Amino acid sequence: MRLKKGYRRNNIIKAGKRNRGDHAMTRPEIVVNVFSSADGKITTAPGRNVSEWTAAGVDGEAHDAAHRLYDDLGCDGLISGSETLMVYGSHWVDLEKAVYEPQKSKAYIVFDGKGRINWHQTEGLIVVTKENVSEDYIRQLEEKNISYIQAGSGDFIDLPAALEKLYEKGFRRLGISGGGGVNGAFLRAGLIDEISLVLAPVAVGGNTTPSIFDCSDLKDLEGVTELELLASRPVGRGSVWVHYKVKKAVPQP
Ligand SMILES: NC(=O)c1ccc[n+]([C@@H]2O[C@H](COP(=O)([O-])OP(=O)(O)OC[C@H]3O[C@@H](n4cnc5c(N)ncnc54)[C@H](OP(=O)(O)O)[C@@H]3O)[C@@H](O)[C@H]2O)c1
Repeated sequence: MRLKKGYRRNNIIKAGKRNRGDHAMTRPEIVVNVFSSADGKITTAPGRNVSEWTAAGVDGEAHDAAHRLYDDLGCDGLISGSETLMVYGSHWVDLEKAVYEPQKSKAYIVFDGKGRINWHQTEGLIVVTKENVSEDYIRQLEEKNISYIQAGSGDFIDLPAALEKLYEKGFRRLGISGGGGVNGAFLRAGLIDEISLVLAPVAVGGNTTPSIFDCSDLKDLEGVTELELLASRPVGRGSVWVHYKVKKAVPQP
């Protein structure tokens, strides 16, 4: 899938500056880019690998379309949450035909604050973890020559500090590919500039099934993130792409 000529220049490039007033940009632009069901679920049920939609041929090619969008949207790295990697490990799904592999992104950046992952594939990998993660985990990263950064020593990674360090490493525009936990943490921190969703032609339902943004409930309307539609169009086989820029983000404590 290719965007219309001039689309990026007119609608995307300046997005990262909009919510930060006159301050010089010290973090990469953040684009959430996921595929979901029509009702906003990003997998079948807790602990299930969403690639099973693709393997079963029910995703309307939304998975492939979302991966192509990383290139079309100009992302120079992809962020993933730790639980996604844990789920992929415990519920492996073989795909007959591999989905498109983003070409422009220089790195696969995994936020593993608690140091839970035992790494096997390390090519292009950057791990973001906490300053107070176990020494064993740091030893693993160093023994496997994995590039890493540390940010924060509270319950979770300090997201603004992590983004500053990724900016210092040269990243200017990062795609976040989920899951809902990491997407939700960025939403509540007011750190999202654009949202790109590919809606697959399935409805999933469920009370605890991961959704696009999983985080604490809002107290009132003040915390709602206001969006402006940049584009929408059918993609794949019966999927729909919607692309928003964030007009107003309100960080929540
Ligand atoms: N459809 C799609 O496009 C798509 C894409 C990816 C994944 N998935 C599906 O999503 C599911 C996994 O999603 P998930 O939501 O359970 O997990 P996840 O987002 O992969 O993992 C949770 C992440 O959120 C972080 N986190 C949570 N609260 C935070 C906070 N307040 N501040 C900073 N970081 C915070 C966690 O940090 P710690 O590391 O410190 O715990 C962890 O990295 C899987 O079933 C997978 O198949 C779907």
